[in-house]
Amino acid sequence: MPSDPAIVRQPEPQLDPRIPAHVGVIMDGNGRWAQARGKPRTEGHIEGVNALRRMVELCIRYGVAHLTVFSFSSENWTRPKDEINFIFSLLRRFVASDLQKLIAHNVRVRIIGSRQGLEDSLRRLIDDVEAKTAHNTGLNLHVAFNYGGKAEITEAVRHIAGEVAAGRLRPADITEGTIERALYTCGIPDPDVIIRTSGEQRVSNFLLWQGAYSELVFVDENWPDFDEETFLRVLDEYALRERRFGGVEVARR
Ligand code: FPP
Repeated sequence: MPSDPAIVRQPEPQLDPRIPAHVGVIMDGNGRWAQARGKPRTEGHIEGVNALRRMVELCIRYGVAHLTVFSFSSENWTRPKDEINFIFSLLRRFVASDLQKLIAHNVRVRIIGSRQGLEDSLRRLIDDVEAKTAHNTGLNLHVAFNYGGKAEITEAVRHIAGEVAAGRLRPADITEGTIERALYTCGIPDPDVIIRTSGEQRVSNFLLWQGAYSELVFVDENWPDFDEETFLRVLDEYALRERRFGGVEVARR
């Protein structure tokens, strides 16, 4: 976090219009980072949280409006129970140690993902974090936790089908907007760029609908090693991309 909260309330003027408004991150490689150092995988996740703090600070400094990070996927339930418990405990610890700083730096936090399968105490914690930061107007930090793109779309379809069955919606009136409003990310702009660390080149069920036109940038660093130098490299790569959104003209938005 920057030491001076004023940095957040009066962000540096966005001199470079090529800064993406919304950055998504698949934070991959925590386990490999740890294993390469002869440490338990949990150490990699701890360093992963430090890298997340760095990323929040970078997004604030460079004027990124939205940051979405993939911190626990619906598919991560297949990991050993101890590791799952550890990642859950990290979310609790992150909130306990960083919530006041996030509030001081005007960060709005939202947790996107399924609430099903989460303990009541964790749900209350999530509600509390969202409520306490709801009025902040700086960086929007979206933590994808117990998140899966297919599950998100399935939940949206179920909701819309319910509206149709209840007679409140006609099938002919279903638009892309209807679906977008039923997603966890309702009201959040689509990511301009999705970064994946650790050299893997997959989307892995992250923001499937929202990422339809996102630029994908893959970096070799494991997530715990992601720093300002890597971030600047990603911005350079993003600046080189021509975004056409299915059209023919070069578009920047
Ligand atoms: C990917 O590394 C990382 C995860 C599945 C968990 C990510 C969690 C954090 C960075 C911290 C969580 C932060 C909060 C706020 C909960 P991996 O374990 O898949 O690494 P590997 O592919 O090298 O095994």
